[in-house]
Amino acid sequence: MPACTAPGLLRGRKVGEIAATMGGAALVLSEFNLDLCSGNDVALETAAQQAGADLASLEQALGALDAHVLAERPPQETNALIAYILSRYHDTHRRELPALVKLARKVETRHAAHPEVPRGLADALQRLLGEIEVHMKKEELILFPAMRRHPGGALGAPITQMRHDHDDHAEQLRDLEAKTGNFIVPEGACGSWQALYAGLDKFHGDMMEHVRIENDVLFPRFEVAREQVERSEDAPAAQTEAANERASAASMADKRDDKTASASASASASASADPLSGASLVPMLVGGLVLIVVAMIIAVALS
Ligand SMILES: [Fe+2]
Ligand SMILES: [Fe+2]
Repeated sequence: MPACTAPGLLRGRKVGEIAATMGGAALVLSEFNLDLCSGNDVALETAAQQAGADLASLEQALGALDAHVLAERPPQETNALIAYILSRYHDTHRRELPALVKLARKVETRHAAHPEVPRGLADALQRLLGEIEVHMKKEELILFPAMRRHPGGALGAPITQMRHDHDDHAEQLRDLEAKTGNFIVPEGACGSWQALYAGLDKFHGDMMEHVRIENDVLFPRFEVAREQVERSEDAPAAQTEAANERASAASMADKRDDKTASASASASASASADPLSGASLVPMLVGGLVLIVVAMIIAVALS
């Protein structure tokens, strides 16, 4: 199906055809409560009317899918790349994951007796939603602001923590693949089941690309700088740089770490002289730590 960003171009097309040919469309249709179980042969505008959905808003959401595809080349400049990661991936995960949890619960409930029902999928997605939210908050409140403030700065230690989080996410994605048979729907699966697996397949692809861009494109720009500092003959500067990195890493400690340990690390950071960021980075880390704790509380409440 060609790109359909202009309003009205999808009218007259069957819901089932749109869901099958536009990446991410099945999840959007589900979010607007269109009946994907028995309404696949109904035209989009008719299905929207039957569901009580606003057709213009639905068309706009479907059009945005194409806009994402057309703008799929990430920018190279660091600040622009960070902005791209935030809008293309962080915002998308926050929009799509809750809908996938809801859809997974629906499928697990309605098809509980089916031998291939993905048991435990909704709970696994709920956990993943919470953990990804905490991880994204770490990047948004601490790491990315530090990158913006110190282009080319040395942030190797906190980045190492982010890479560990990414490894955990990869493990969770493999669990999703195992639970769903690589997102392949069984014979005769209803539209909701198809929408769920199509949405999961897209989320899986988005996550893989999100992590690849951070691991392979963005992070190395701030790790190379760290290696240069470590090789420097200027030992005192290297030592204070390392102290700063340790403080940053402590502030990004895994959410399972207790708050006492993190508070101690922040206090240590405050005590160290820091030529890289001095008066600016430490208060930001302390403030970020408080916000991460809030994010963790929200994540726990969601789970
Ligand atoms: Fe990210
Ligand atoms: Fe990340």
